[in-house]
Amino acid sequence: MATQLPTTDIRIGADMIRRRKGGTPIVCLTAYTYPIARLLDPHVDLLLVGDSVAMVLHGHGTTLGASLEMMIAHGQAVMRGSARACVVVDMPAGTYEDSAARAVASARRIIGETGCQAVKLEGGVDVAVQIAAIVAAGIPVMGHIGLQPQSVEKDGGYKIKGRTDENIAALLADALAVEQAGAFSLVIEGTIETVAADITHRIAIPAIGIGASSECDGQILVIDDMVGLTVDRVPKFVKQYADLRSVIAHAAERYALEVRDREFPGRAHVFSKTSGGDEA
Ligand code: KIV
Repeated sequence: MATQLPTTDIRIGADMIRRRKGGTPIVCLTAYTYPIARLLDPHVDLLLVGDSVAMVLHGHGTTLGASLEMMIAHGQAVMRGSARACVVVDMPAGTYEDSAARAVASARRIIGETGCQAVKLEGGVDVAVQIAAIVAAGIPVMGHIGLQPQSVEKDGGYKIKGRTDENIAALLADALAVEQAGAFSLVIEGTIETVAADITHRIAIPAIGIGASSECDGQILVIDDMVGLTVDRVPKFVKQYADLRSVIAHAAERYALEVRDREFPGRAHVFSKTSGGDEA
């Protein structure tokens, strides 16, 4: 049963994140569920309901498995589980690339049905028109350049960006296009450190790094990677702060043993006619 969240804290808005440019690093993590949002909310500035949810929680091979309905359901759960963090919901592939009108309609659905603070979409110069249209509709947008997981099939894998002069110029053009289109911040993913640092210093909006640079204005990681829950390959740029897979596997092993030995449930976990109360 849901317990009451603290209501005294003010929810951090996109504008508050924008004003943090160059200040204390902005702490961001992904979250997809109510209990994880409850746990993370006191510690972070921003919770991203990333389309990585398709891989991490739903077992798809890429983020292309995410749908608008999936993102909205997880966005609603994270909003219920948070009171303070700025909540950003990813726009899944296929919901914004076609046209500005489609992008605005999808963003309106996400904001209208979740109540989140902003949406995020991948791309630079190629989606500047979409970003400008969503911002003009009054919806804050976070950009995402560098390694773009929605393009891995096109790119032939999760390839680090910023290795050639041509690509460095393209990355800078993308960052400036996202900024000029009115985004309040920008994720830079899987990009050579010096390139990510240079882009961070050249734009006036906060750059949030993932596999980028400590000079970025903030950092983000996928929560399941960070706590050691990810089943498949974890990218090199992840630092694992806990090993929850081992904790869960150990708990399951002990439970299985105790059930087979009829050790669980014990006296404390069953009801007798004489014990008080009707609640389970
Ligand atoms: O979907 C996601 O989790 C993301 C982060 C990796 C930034 O886009």
